[in-house]
Amino acid sequence: MKATIGIIAGSLRRASFSKKIARALLEMAPEGYDFKLISIEDLPLYNQDFDDDNDVPPSYVTFRNTIQELDGIIFVTPEYNRSVPAVLKNAVDVASKPSDKNKWDGKPAAVFSNSPGNLSGFGANHHLRQSLVCLNVPVMQQPEVYIAGANKLFDEDGNFKDDNVRKFLQKAVDAYIEWFNRNKPS
Ligand SMILES: Cc1cc2nc3c(=O)[nH]c(=O)nc-3n(C[C@H](O)[C@H](O)[C@H](O)COP(=O)(O)O)c2cc1C
Repeated sequence: MKATIGIIAGSLRRASFSKKIARALLEMAPEGYDFKLISIEDLPLYNQDFDDDNDVPPSYVTFRNTIQELDGIIFVTPEYNRSVPAVLKNAVDVASKPSDKNKWDGKPAAVFSNSPGNLSGFGANHHLRQSLVCLNVPVMQQPEVYIAGANKLFDEDGNFKDDNVRKFLQKAVDAYIEWFNRNKPS
């Protein structure tokens, strides 16, 4: 059976560069793997009362089930004020609760960060890793993936302007698949 790897872009923006990178990754799935975009668009802000009252929004149920069914995850995150955008942190929080049903538990992940500038989302990348440690998610260490100039990566048809960027990302994906196979739950 094919392993399913979720690709989560940490932005709601229509023309998001993170979404464009996430879409480009779909083409890079090796044989035997299904890469699937996971939406975080419809998740209300997490409020623990939802779980305490056993009255969670329907979008939480769908999202939690979707994460539960994944084998691994690649996060494509931009950076907001040197950290993880709130929408992505919210999605991480939603699927982490209730605590005895942490849906991320044990699923090997990778964090690819990006920014139009040169800092490449470094702060967001490492803040996200901090949360993933808490959630028992093994996160690929090398190669680190920091993508600068995210606003200049694609032409109008969504193709990479520079094939070296595509090759770099394909190498990162291939390394992630190796990491996935070494770290997936037995
Ligand atoms: C609230 C806010 C905070 C931002 N903070 C940072 C930042 O700390 N570092 C950075 O490189 N870019 C920052 N940016 C610029 C984003 O990198 C840029 O808007 C990018 O396009 C967002 O990602 P997206 O294209 O996937 O939506 C910020 C943008 C917003 C809206």
